[in-house]
Parts: sequence; C-alpha cells; structure tokens
Amino acid sequence: MADNNYIKVFIHWLIKKTVYPFYRIIYFYKKNCWRISIHQADKLGYNQISNTTEENRYPEIFDYVKKMLSDKNEICILSFGCSYGWECKSLRNYFPNAFIIGYDIFKENIDIAAKKNDDCNIKFTSEWENVKKEKYFDIVFAMSVLCRTPHTINKKNISKIYSFERFEKQITELDSIIRKDGLLVLYNTNFLFTDTIVSEKYEPLSIPNFYDSGRIPKFDKNNKLLENQEYQYSIFRKTRNDATDN
Ligand SMILES: C[S@@+](CC[C@H](N)C(=O)[O-])C[C@H]1O[C@@H](n2cnc3c(N)ncnc32)[C@H](O)[C@@H]1O
Repeated sequence: MADNNYIKVFIHWLIKKTVYPFYRIIYFYKKNCWRISIHQADKLGYNQISNTTEENRYPEIFDYVKKMLSDKNEICILSFGCSYGWECKSLRNYFPNAFIIGYDIFKENIDIAAKKNDDCNIKFTSEWENVKKEKYFDIVFAMSVLCRTPHTINKKNISKIYSFERFEKQITELDSIIRKDGLLVLYNTNFLFTDTIVSEKYEPLSIPNFYDSGRIPKFDKNNKLLENQEYQYSIFRKTRNDATDN
C-alpha cells in the first residue's frame, strides 16, 4: 500500500515537472502568438498579435506626457491597440479630465474592456471608423503594438514577418488623426519612427534621464537588423500638418 502511494506521488511529481511546463508554453504561444498566423495577421491588418498588457505599464512616459500637457484641460486621447483596456484605465489616473478612446482590432479584447468599464469618458471600440469620427487627437499612444514579437526576435531580416512598409502605412494612418502640436507616443516598435516619411512633420522629445523606447529588436527601412539597437525616442510632437506647412 505504502509502495502504491510512493508511485502515485512520483507520477504526480513527474507530470508536474514535465507535462505542466510544456502545457504552459503551448498555452502561452497559443494565446499570444498562434492566435492567428502571420499570413492572417497581414490580411486582417494586425500589427502585434499578442494581447499582453498590464496596468500602468509605462509610468515614466505617462508621467512625462502628463507634465507636457499640464496646461491643457480637456484633451482627447487614443489608446491604439488597447488590448483589455488596462492602458485606458491607467491613463485616466494621469489625465483625469480627458476623453479617452480605447481601440483594438481584436473585438474580443474590446468586449472584455467594455464589460468592466464604468467610466463614461472612456469609450472602447474595434471599429476604426468610430475612431476617425473623433477627427483629431491630442495624444495617440501606440504602445507595444507596432511590432511582431516574439516572431522578430533573433532574426536578421523581417521582411516576411513584419515589413517596414506595413509599419509606415500604419504610422501614416495614425498621423492623419493627430492634431498639430499633438503627440504620438510609441514604445516597443520594430522600426524607427524617424525613418518614416511622416516623421518630417514631428520633433522627437527626450525624457530627461530616460533612454528607453522598448527592448524588442529594431530594424532599418530595408527590414534588416540595425547594428545600433539604441533608440531613445518614444514621444514625438507634431509641429506641422503637412510636410510643406510651416
Ligand atoms: C501587446 S498588446 C499591447 C496592449 C497595450 N497597448 C499595452 O502596451 O499594454 C498589442 C495589442 O495591439 C492590438 N493590435 C494589433 N494590431 C492592431 C491594429 N492594426 N489596430 C489596432 N489594434 C491592433 C492587438 O490586438 C493587441 O491587443
């Protein structure tokens, strides 16, 4: 009898040590990366595939942006790729009077975010047309959205995974809804904003003693891994509406 118990305990221990970790890895990848294939993601207009998010994920950046707009009272903010809505909830603490839209291409995320939202000045949508109805935003946050990770990790060229062309197209779309003097805030992008054509209309801003734009690998306009991975900018101010305007 005692022997049987030892065997049971041993089998249980073995499962815990072998099957569970394996299952957890499969679960993680299924939830974050294999939700849809890269081919489907391209077709549907996805950038990042993973949903990963958490509350107050970028405190230094949020705090700096808040200080920059301290003289403005009623502002309109877009959280582009808001996932389950934690980002909008966090932004409310920094911008008590702002109207905040949380947009995510994945409707299930928006349904979850909307369900737990009791703030009438935060709206969630998975329809880009609804975002465009607002016309112009004072701040657009696209945090950990304009990338594909972990797919692009340890790659020398990502043209077949997530191309600069796709990144630039998305940036151009975001630029079209940012008002003059408005801010575009990016973090964890696979490419450099300053390589895009619209960056001519923006000035990069530096946060004192903060040199972090995300840890995921960065690539050049030809989709090749950059030798220098250091890029300090995450906040960009729109100084003119068109490349030709002053
Ligand atoms: C890693 S989460 C980032 C969530 C949040 N911004 C944060 O940093 O915690 C990326 C989110 O971007 C969304 N996303 C990807 N492509 C998008 C697109 N083209 N338009 C809107 N959302 C998109 C995904 O559905 C996912 O919820």
